[in-house]
Amino acid sequence: MSASLSTVAYIGATILFILSLGGLSNPETARRGNLFGMIGMGLAVLATILGPRVTAAGVPWIVGALVVGGAIGLYAARKVQMTQMPELVALMHSLVGLAACLVGFASYVDTSVQYTGAEKAIHEMEIYIGILIGAVTFSGSIVAFGKLSGKIGGKPLLLPARHWINLLGLLVVIWFGRQFLQAHSVSEGMTPLLVMTVIALLFGIHMVAAIGGADMPVVVSMLNSYSGWAAAATGFMLSNDLLIVTGALVGSSGAILSYIMCRAMNRNFFSVIAGGFGGGAPAAAKGDAAAQPAGEVVPISAAETAELLRDSRSVIIVPGYGMAVAQAQHTVYEITKLLRDKGVNVRFAIHPVAGRMPGHMNVLLAEAKVPYDIVMEMDEINADFPDADVTMVIGANDIVNPAAQDDPGSPIAGMPVLEVWKAKTSIVMKRSMASGYAGVDNPLFYKENNRMLFGDAKKMLDEVLTALKA
Ligand code: TAP
Repeated sequence: MSASLSTVAYIGATILFILSLGGLSNPETARRGNLFGMIGMGLAVLATILGPRVTAAGVPWIVGALVVGGAIGLYAARKVQMTQMPELVALMHSLVGLAACLVGFASYVDTSVQYTGAEKAIHEMEIYIGILIGAVTFSGSIVAFGKLSGKIGGKPLLLPARHWINLLGLLVVIWFGRQFLQAHSVSEGMTPLLVMTVIALLFGIHMVAAIGGADMPVVVSMLNSYSGWAAAATGFMLSNDLLIVTGALVGSSGAILSYIMCRAMNRNFFSVIAGGFGGGAPAAAKGDAAAQPAGEVVPISAAETAELLRDSRSVIIVPGYGMAVAQAQHTVYEITKLLRDKGVNVRFAIHPVAGRMPGHMNVLLAEAKVPYDIVMEMDEINADFPDADVTMVIGANDIVNPAAQDDPGSPIAGMPVLEVWKAKTSIVMKRSMASGYAGVDNPLFYKENNRMLFGDAKKMLDEVLTALKA
């Protein structure tokens, strides 16, 4: 394939990636978006393999890597549960970071192309920054994977003077960057490069370890953005325009998502970028949240729940992480259909950080074929709770916690929440009195108009459905 044909293919792939991102922004066009992305990626891979920069000797290596990588990807996609998706994504981000580091070291030791003057300085700067971003992304994503999968505790690691440690790390990285650029040979430059890599790895670990459970959504989207910038840096090192554009698309869309997440969590975007977040977490670490709200909880049975639902005019369903764990979305839809057929106005209220990844609940509800027009964002529906007869909270906890509004000392203070307690009756479906991801007790459970339906969400909803049909 000639250089100009490969450029045309790259432009085609870029357009497909942009169309893909556009499509993914709406559940109704998401399938098409995915398809555009897949075609774009296929085109990009083909144009690269057949392009002028790959020699015949390199093709078997690329094909071998494609087969191995493709097989692992296929296996993971078939095996991984929907609830394990966020940790899988974190693991994939770590691979992007690792790739950026490896490409950086490889292009530094590769002396087949000789750079001189300004070109040499620019190339080495690309390598230094590429490895820096890659190493932070790699180690940060590994810690995020550990936290999301429960292999590492959710408590924030708060070293004394941690901001000063970060600042010192930054200054050392800048100083070694100067040494690296002034090095006269590869062996001379290797020491500052390795020192910077170690500092960047430690920084990535420290950055994510310092984040409390409640702030993890912001970290997930930030690492998403970092992985994009790591890919863009790899593109600069390899002089591959498509990788630069694709990396920039992922990096900037991840940054926009981080901004949306910050707003949803009521965190300051710029203090997040500067690494000053997780401010609310110390209270959780000290266990202040253990101050249990007073009162008793009132249990309710599945049959009584069905009775309440049947007598309602307006029902709002709030799904959370527990619905994903129980895989209860299909039963939820059955119940919704039945109630709607009886003339009940049923709507879903989706909190931006419900579940464990952005859009988690939307994906599950779409899978169960819940119509999009009854699935509402938090801002669209929060004012409607006082008019609802029943709100059914299915495996959600932090996102319906009134302490976010009432308790300034709470680790989730200031986070906007779904005001389910304003309905005539709220029913919380969960297995026990255990807290949610943020580890904070929930005063909602003790409110006078709240009822607790204890048990696995799928099992309890099956019972509610049977009672409704009876
Ligand atoms: P959580 O606050 O984590 O609460 C989920 C609840 O589901 C738990 O209290 C648990 O109580 C219950 N549950 C678990 N398995 C269940 C089952 N089989 N049947 C019934 N209930 C079950 O979830 P949420 O309200 O969706 O809030 C999300 C939290 O995750 C927020 O703190 C958010 O910051 C954090 N987070 C979000 C993301 C993104 S991007 N969305 C990423 C990382 C972290 P029992 O054990 O008593 O059943």
